[in-house]
Amino acid sequence: MENLKVVISENQIRQRVKELGREIKASYPDIDVSLVCVCILKGAVVFFSDLIREIDLDLEIDFVRLSSYGDSTCPSEKVIFSKDMEISVKNRHVLIVEDIIDTGATITYLKRVLEARNPLSVKVCALIHKMERRRMDVEIDFYGFRIEKGFLVGYGLDCAEKYRNLKGIYEIVD
Ligand code: IMP
Ligand code: MG
Repeated sequence: MENLKVVISENQIRQRVKELGREIKASYPDIDVSLVCVCILKGAVVFFSDLIREIDLDLEIDFVRLSSYGDSTCPSEKVIFSKDMEISVKNRHVLIVEDIIDTGATITYLKRVLEARNPLSVKVCALIHKMERRRMDVEIDFYGFRIEKGFLVGYGLDCAEKYRNLKGIYEIVD
């Protein structure tokens, strides 16, 4: 059994998610079609379900699941879809919602694939912007919290599929 230390409380998350919803709405002042919000399964699902209810815009939701077979030298070429989107993003504004941006490989891959499908725009909102292992230069339009290092669980984040149902975010310490 791992030891868990609270890093971000349930209350802090709730506050920040509300602010993110307002920031996101404010960044689309002239939008005249509904926003397509894309959740990266499974880790982002808890954050996504809270966030979409704080974005006061017409929106649609969709889901992708990506599998990463990254090695340390070339992570981006080893990401594949195991579930693609169902909504077409052509001529739509797209907001990708991710749990953690760590090395940057997953988000770099997904952004590149979606941008090739001729959307009007693609933005990224991550719950956590984690710096320790960043290898790729990624533009993150919105993020909840910046964390320097550590392995985090809770609020959707797992360790071997465990802890996704915790209400706060914890660091595994031993
Ligand atoms: P990236 O492709 O290296 O940016 O990895 C992002 C993915 O790695 C996230 O979507 C998470 O699923 C997973 N990940 C990275 N760091 C953590 C962590 O601290 N806790 C749980 N999952 C993590
Ligand atoms: Mg993930």
